[in-house]
Amino acid sequence: MTQESAGMNRRAFLQLLGCGGCALALPGVAGCTIAELYESGGGELAFSVAEPRFSALGAVDGVATADVAGRPLILIRTGEDTIVALNRLCTHVQCDMGPTQSGRWDGEKLICTCHDSHFDAAGKVLKGPATRDLAAYPVTFDPGTGEGRVVVGSTPEPEPEDPTPEEFRDLVNPYADDDADALARGQEIWSAQCATCHGAQGESVAGFPEPVPTAFQSGTSGYSDGYLLWRLRTGAATGPENSIMPAYSAQDLSDDDAWKVITYLRSLGP
Ligand code: HEC
Ligand code: FES
Repeated sequence: MTQESAGMNRRAFLQLLGCGGCALALPGVAGCTIAELYESGGGELAFSVAEPRFSALGAVDGVATADVAGRPLILIRTGEDTIVALNRLCTHVQCDMGPTQSGRWDGEKLICTCHDSHFDAAGKVLKGPATRDLAAYPVTFDPGTGEGRVVVGSTPEPEPEDPTPEEFRDLVNPYADDDADALARGQEIWSAQCATCHGAQGESVAGFPEPVPTAFQSGTSGYSDGYLLWRLRTGAATGPENSIMPAYSAQDLSDDDAWKVITYLRSLGP
């Protein structure tokens, strides 16, 4: 919406939201949720727990989502008087931590169910594979009226960095997702070398210390081909602290076999 509405005048934008001009007249009124775009790329959102899409915030530990000035936010009622707002894209490989997607707030931390990264209420990484904190945005909230406001910075945040080094970043798997020969050879390698940790179905074998082997069953589309090959070649050296992921050199696994096992790995999860 940010992009589309950048050229529009403010009134036209408010009308687009079906809320023509009401932010001017009645700021913060229930039923009138408005993401105002500032020319600088920031914005703010007035919300009320009386609105159905924010009603979960009426109770402690309730969670809601909203997109403000192009930022995907998760709002969490962390206490009687407090709501926090975080960017809900996991900094690992960008899974959406909305409550109907890959996010779960357990009362103390936000868990990304994609690969089990944990963040505290301030967005700080408690547990990898994510290594970078989530952006946090200031929120004012009045528990008496149930109304609040979240402000998204007036300067754009840096784009999430892709950790993949340049020499791997643009590599593309030469095999198609449904290449039968590649899948068959990939499965053979997977069963012999990867399944002991990651599980035959990519379910992640229980009993390993943290960080646990990635459960590819819960998702593989967030990874680029280059990222997967890089991690396969470098293993624990480029993983979160204390990783036991082995590094597979070209002697252990030729490029051809590496791409085949990556083809198979991708078939394990959405
Ligand atoms: C000894 C256990 C072990 C074996 C064997 C193993 N892995 Fe891993 N792997 C891990 C652990 C633990 C992690 C999570 C920590 C990390 O990212 O380094 C991981 C992470 C990964 C990642 C990065 C995933 C992410 O979420 O960033 C890839 C890709 C991967 N493994 C592929 C493979 C493949 C392919 C094989 C077989 C050729 C394999 N692994 C064998 C333990 C193992
Ligand atoms: S995308 Fe969140 S832990 Fe991997």
